[in-house]
Amino acid sequence: MKTIHIGLLGCGTVGTGVARLLIDQRDLIAERLGAVLELKRVADIDITRDRGLALAPGVLTTDARSVIADPQIDIVVEMIGGQGVARELILGAIAAGKPVVTANKALLAVDGNAICRAADERGVDLGFEASVGGCMPIIKTLRESMVGNRIRRMTGILNGTCNYILTKIGEQGATFAEALAEAQAEGFAEADPTLDVEGHDTAHKITILSALAYGMPMNLADVYVEGISRLTPQDIRNAEEFGYRIKLLAISKDAGDAVEARVHPTMIPLENILSSVSGPVNAITVTGDAAGDVLHFGRGAGMMPTASAVVSDIVDIARNLLAGIGRRLPLLGCQPERVRPVPVLPMDELNTHYYIRIMAADRPGVLSIISGILGEHEISIKSVTQKGRKNTGPVPVVMLTHRAREAAVQQALRQITALDVIAEPPMLIRIEDENGSD
Ligand code: HSE
Repeated sequence: MKTIHIGLLGCGTVGTGVARLLIDQRDLIAERLGAVLELKRVADIDITRDRGLALAPGVLTTDARSVIADPQIDIVVEMIGGQGVARELILGAIAAGKPVVTANKALLAVDGNAICRAADERGVDLGFEASVGGCMPIIKTLRESMVGNRIRRMTGILNGTCNYILTKIGEQGATFAEALAEAQAEGFAEADPTLDVEGHDTAHKITILSALAYGMPMNLADVYVEGISRLTPQDIRNAEEFGYRIKLLAISKDAGDAVEARVHPTMIPLENILSSVSGPVNAITVTGDAAGDVLHFGRGAGMMPTASAVVSDIVDIARNLLAGIGRRLPLLGCQPERVRPVPVLPMDELNTHYYIRIMAADRPGVLSIISGILGEHEISIKSVTQKGRKNTGPVPVVMLTHRAREAAVQQALRQITALDVIAEPPMLIRIEDENGSD
């Protein structure tokens, strides 16, 4: 049986998972592939730590460049992460004509266009299934399974850490800090967890998916991003009282001549299937014009789920190598010369329903001032509740609006924030309710 040699760069959490799968499932994969995947070299800055891997002597090295230069290495797997050395090594491997597998969403979202161009020019393959959604085969779905569809929209929970935090606060009454510390201990969170909680990791992922869905270059700069760090347990409870759950959603829609691409805490109806997705799990609904809604659900973070996706890319590339094909699929789903910029709809033009919580002095006339300002901006209130007074401090006035323009809502909130009866900037949460009335 033929052997395909793998060079692994980076043996942290996911890298160790990849090594473990390649070793433990060697025979199973060989049965399916018709060739043996041999983990020939593993590079990491720390080669003394015991990772519980049975690696032959000489496999571990601190010299990642020597792995790329090794003529026996057929496929390079980059599991270092970040945008510094990982970028250099990926481009080095491509220049050496070696196919690359990576899970590096942060790098792809920022430099993916240049990396794909380099891979196109060299005619080598680049697998990045593990960059979005952990084990969920969402890249394969967009590039292959739904190739005959125009993608109308994608709505997803793409960050396990945020979903874990929201679940822990909502269901178990944990504090934000406790829930984040647990996510870090479980190995879901990024090395810099602000990437998770401020929504940037989710933005990286929807940037990649939007490129694949709409045949556009990766365009992170135009994706609107807002994280979960300002949400309070009170907002999470209020949402449930109105029949909604708050999720950090990535939303990308075909809006005719433009696309919507945004990441923010979103209230979705309790009956929406995404609202029941709890813990470090990811889920995404992709709507195609032929297929309708297609739902993916699975572990979006962690060692083995992410390793599962990496190994699927390795096997795909190995199949091409065995067939003598450089690669079978265009990297961004459509032919490189047909990838063209599509404008991202400015956030100001969004038209949706809103949840607004305003901490206001509990005095006669305050509510009418607030509703007056909203009215001036053509924002129609659907319902309003004011929680009882426990002390002399400000009380939460919570409103749901009918559909309104984001620009108008933001303007109104700026005016409301400036009132001397308002204690803090209002909380604004967008509602995504396809069946909601106007
Ligand atoms: N930090 C990411 C998450 C890891 O929590 O989903 C997977 O990309």
